[in-house]
Amino acid sequence: MKNVTAIYFSPTGGTKSYVRAVARGIADDFREIDLTNRETRAKEHLFSPDEIAVIGVPVYYGRIPQLPDELLRGLTASHTPAVFVVVYGNREFDDALLELSDLCEKQGFYGAAACAFVAQHTFSPKIAAGRPNEEDLTIAEAFGREIREFMEAKDAKPLSLPGDRPYRSFTVAPFTPKGDKSCTGCGTCVRICPSGAITAEAPRETDAKKCIRCLVCVRACPAGARRVGGPVYSMVKHKLEKELTKTEKEARLFLP
Ligand SMILES: Cc1cc2nc3c(=O)[nH]c(=O)nc-3n(C[C@H](O)[C@H](O)[C@H](O)COP(=O)(O)O)c2cc1C
Repeated sequence: MKNVTAIYFSPTGGTKSYVRAVARGIADDFREIDLTNRETRAKEHLFSPDEIAVIGVPVYYGRIPQLPDELLRGLTASHTPAVFVVVYGNREFDDALLELSDLCEKQGFYGAAACAFVAQHTFSPKIAAGRPNEEDLTIAEAFGREIREFMEAKDAKPLSLPGDRPYRSFTVAPFTPKGDKSCTGCGTCVRICPSGAITAEAPRETDAKKCIRCLVCVRACPAGARRVGGPVYSMVKHKLEKELTKTEKEARLFLP
């Protein structure tokens, strides 16, 4: 089997779990590239035609996350097969899979397979609570095995994916996390922020233009000093909980 690389952008870990599961299904051994890390994103990563990449991102506003720097700019492939993975919080993935596929093609990958999975929503632990669970990861791993068998048996054909061009337009959520008095200035959030929206000089503040609202700083703060507050966030959260807790969506799997 070809060398496999699991590549993910995953501030709160849902995408990472799914990408690893698909990669594990393709091969027991695989390497990992974590694009959530700004330094890793800035490095050059080269791929040859006899490798396979599993590339995953979360869905934000029905699109892929819009980073101030380009998410995949460090990846250079040369007709390398790739599995595209999008992970969403039980609403919809809209144009995200198509956008990820377009972006990967620009970097030199071609689509061998694709999938969309559900994970707990960043804005509420009540939405798709605890997902991915064991069953989700079993499905993802089994899909990895199916991809391996499919690639061994058949010639590459174009993938057909759902989504529209131009992609969905959206308005960025009108709230950002902030630090309170209990902030010790330890710098965890500065290091961990995937978009460089927090500075060591003013760690309680957040640059609203750079912030992608992934909330990893809220989860990672050792002092529990960072949170999103205010009536708008409460309203959005409440509305999402009302709409998205009735039923949970299943995995969507795509082969050529
Ligand atoms: C800014 C933002 C926008 C989001 N937009 C959507 C969306 O359009 N549809 C959806 O189902 N989930 C949406 N989500 C939920 C995430 O896709 C979901 O929580 C995902 O698991 C996060 O991935 P991660 O755990 O790898 O960081 C959004 C989350 C954030 C932070």
